[in-house]
Amino acid sequence: MNTQVKALIDRLANRHTLDREELLTLLEQRTPEAAEYLLEKAREVRHAVYGREVYMRGLIEFTNYCKNDCYYCGIRCSNHKAQRYRLTREEILQCCAQGYALGFRTFVLQGGEDPFFTDEKVAEMVRAIKQAHPDCALTLSIGERSRESYRLFRGAGADRYLLRHETANADHYAKLHPPALTLERRKRCLRDLKELGFQVGCGFMVGSPYQTLEHLVDDLLFLGELEPHMVGIGPFIPHSETPFAGEPAGTLELTLCLLGMIRLLLPEVLLPATTALGTIHPTGREAGILAGANVVMPNLSPTSVRSKYLLYDNKICTGDEAAECRACLAGRMDSIGYTLAVSRGDYPSLSTGCPS
Ligand code: SAM
Ligand code: FES
Repeated sequence: MNTQVKALIDRLANRHTLDREELLTLLEQRTPEAAEYLLEKAREVRHAVYGREVYMRGLIEFTNYCKNDCYYCGIRCSNHKAQRYRLTREEILQCCAQGYALGFRTFVLQGGEDPFFTDEKVAEMVRAIKQAHPDCALTLSIGERSRESYRLFRGAGADRYLLRHETANADHYAKLHPPALTLERRKRCLRDLKELGFQVGCGFMVGSPYQTLEHLVDDLLFLGELEPHMVGIGPFIPHSETPFAGEPAGTLELTLCLLGMIRLLLPEVLLPATTALGTIHPTGREAGILAGANVVMPNLSPTSVRSKYLLYDNKICTGDEAAECRACLAGRMDSIGYTLAVSRGDYPSLSTGCPS
């Protein structure tokens, strides 16, 4: 193996930081052998922090209405072919109850930016879920709102918030989004959320159109700046009814390499092996866990709406019941020597005496 690359991986593993030039060199000069070494180091760190446990998050995709028009996203408002749906409060609570019985102790409410769900409606939903399941963590992933809205959600009992930054390079951001959406605002939301005491997740797509390795270095440096509790990354996958329909998908190889680098940069971070990773490769999620990831997010949405929350083409698990998804993932984790944990799965330094 190239000795310079090996030295960089060792430094990343030991000091959890590299500068811009070093990160770029590592990405540019990586070879299959170097990647194998990187992932081995990432696994060592993952085992030291989390052992062989994998945390589960029950994902409830409660609305696919969205007022935004992100160029990459299958549920963007310009996609008139998307069949729109909203789950009722009762349906959402039923998903949680079913998930609870299956061992889920974290629920993630995700949706497009749907004005129907006013701040008060969201807060009310949060209160109802926390009342029904006080021992569970609740994560929101409903996009950009004001600091005051986020304060309301936090006060209602929401514990965590996922808001991928998508790309930390402003020029690149402008190539993926219409002018109304800016990186500056996205970053401000993330800072607001952190200041309000949420466990915060940012993240980005790997291989999104126009992305360069320099952009990925910007992303990694941004993670060092924000110090999020969670980082969601997965390959970009084209959707046929978007402007990026003809663009190639991100690769498994680069996504795994980035998962490994993120585990070394932020040893305690909660890092999912995403559904998108499982979509581009039959054993993508297992490979993600073996690259340092420690979270999976099976779907708890009712099967009747599953195939309508299509962010990209060929999404997996759209026909499976929640119980089947859980059993399937348990088997997959078992096959690589890991086990699904029945726990909230908080960020380690927050899990004792943590603000709930
Ligand atoms: N509206 C919320 C938000 O903006 O955070 C949550 C829903 S949004 C669909 C969730 C994530 O899906 C986005 O942050 C994006 O990274 C990812 N996503 C959207 N389209 C995608 C695609 N074509 N391929 C892979 N991931 C995609
Ligand atoms: Fe709004 Fe994708 S454009 S969720």
